[in-house]
Amino acid sequence: MSRIAPSTITTKSGAPLLLRAPEPSDYDSYVAFQHQAATETTHTLQIPGRIRPREELVSVWRNALSDSSVESFLGCFSGNTLVGYCGLHPDRKEHPWVRHVALFGMIILKPYWGQGIGKELLGKLIQHAQLMGIIRLEALVRVTNERAIQLYKNFGFEIEGTRKKAALIDGQFVDEYFIAKMIERTP
Ligand SMILES: CC(C)(COP(=O)(O)OP(=O)(O)OC[C@H]1O[C@@H](n2cnc3c(N)ncnc32)[C@H](O)[C@@H]1OP(=O)(O)O)[C@@H](O)C(=O)NCCC(=O)NCCS
Repeated sequence: MSRIAPSTITTKSGAPLLLRAPEPSDYDSYVAFQHQAATETTHTLQIPGRIRPREELVSVWRNALSDSSVESFLGCFSGNTLVGYCGLHPDRKEHPWVRHVALFGMIILKPYWGQGIGKELLGKLIQHAQLMGIIRLEALVRVTNERAIQLYKNFGFEIEGTRKKAALIDGQFVDEYFIAKMIERTP
């Protein structure tokens, strides 16, 4: 049972979509999703054709369903097809002093950009982070990724600094912003 409850949303163009945790049977759809995302945008670090082994990914998804896990995944599905995906991850330094810190990432397939899916997914992730006691939620975003920057600002994220020359894309260096949002504790 997912700790982020499944829900249905309607896109701006009227399409019904389901938000829910990924299940083992979604693996093939995830592989296709990952490949498409890697080829249609330079805003992520997905690699075309890089296939994460089924057992490894399914195990990560399964572990994320445990009540004590900050790590969490949420997919956006059109029928059985994965069209959006996001993840919340605990700070990888795994020290008690940074237990209140989490990172997130999100990707939506290009044909679905601008339909309000990012807003729905991020809203759910923030709610879940708050329930898990996360105080600081952070991410990296390329300075050229205007849509993502606007989405994050809409949710109260602030730009804290710049990671210069963070990527070299088609011969051009691109900077990244460190962005973060402080989350109030649940009363
Ligand atoms: C960035 C991304 C996650 C945003 O998701 P999305 O579903 O397209 O975003 P939404 O439709 O929910 O739009 C959210 C907000 O972004 C802003 N926005 C939308 N289109 C925009 C555009 N063309 N330029 C600037 N801001 C834009 C709007 O403020 C919008 O909110 P509103 O509809 O309430 O006005 C998605 O486009 C994506 O996956 N891109 C490729 C991968 C990526 O960049 N991942 C993030 C890496 S940090």
